[in-house]
Amino acid sequence: MTIRQIIPTYSAKLKSSSPVLDIEILLAKTLNKNKEYLYTYPDKKLTAKKSATFKKLFNRRNNGEPVAYILGYQEFFNLNFKVDPRVLIPRPETEILVEEVIKYYKSKIQDLKSKICIADIGAGSGAIIIALAKNIKKAEFWGAEISKKALQIAKQNAKLHQVKIKFLKGNLLDPLQSVICDPQSDSIITANLPYLTSQELKNPNLKYEPQIALKGGADGLKLFQTFFNQIQKFKLQPQSIFLEIGHKQAAAIKKLARHALPNYKFKVVKDLCGFDRLVIISK
Ligand SMILES: C[S@@+](CC[C@H](N)C(=O)[O-])C[C@H]1O[C@@H](n2cnc3c(N)ncnc32)[C@H](O)[C@@H]1O
Repeated sequence: MTIRQIIPTYSAKLKSSSPVLDIEILLAKTLNKNKEYLYTYPDKKLTAKKSATFKKLFNRRNNGEPVAYILGYQEFFNLNFKVDPRVLIPRPETEILVEEVIKYYKSKIQDLKSKICIADIGAGSGAIIIALAKNIKKAEFWGAEISKKALQIAKQNAKLHQVKIKFLKGNLLDPLQSVICDPQSDSIITANLPYLTSQELKNPNLKYEPQIALKGGADGLKLFQTFFNQIQKFKLQPQSIFLEIGHKQAAAIKKLARHALPNYKFKVVKDLCGFDRLVIISK
């Protein structure tokens, strides 16, 4: 079959919300070319070997495997991150968190101490902390993660993007107590914690991603509760905290934040669909 024939034939069969785009991506990967090639050479015929490779990729996608795992990478904040089933696939909405941290940093840099620590909790692929390290020059970068397997990928991505990040294994803020308590420095904490409710977790589209990256307990707030308990227990006073949240969680998180950090400001940022997506808790 030619490229021109494959695209409509296979996209009609594919179970996906974006069948044409998915087929184009899989076809481009099969041919080791970019998508433009497909439209420049629509009459190119696939060899028997390439056809077999394409069909294997098609079957994986048709079984629900995310395109990012099939390709082995995902773009986030204009950078390509290696991903596989050890880590969550970074989502476009998480770019809002990165943008807000950069904006905050630029607006506050004059008021902050000369040593600034930026710590990302639940680093996963490293997408957030690496994107920050690529865009913020004068800071120390830390990533904490409970999953040993995810840490392996985060370290590979940091190397790939040539940024210096210290990764630590542990439960939320536990491994970073001394970093955030350091009186010589100001700290900024970021986190995209698992926040899906048990109900939301039943979505079959999520079956390939690690449960530990998604599961937030019955109401999705379990990790946030522990996070704010740790803030209180370790007496942490960061300059600011940026948390990605589920769209119905802002009120509950405000309550937790008020209790742990009573004198801090609390702001909710919406995503492009108008849903609450991020909270910023700052001095
Ligand atoms: C929603 S994912 C976010 C990954 C990445 N930061 C991103 O935005 O693409 C949450 C991450 O938190 C990690 N995690 C889950 N429980 C944790 C805990 N108790 N302490 C530290 N990390 C945890 C998971 O392994 C996962 O990598």
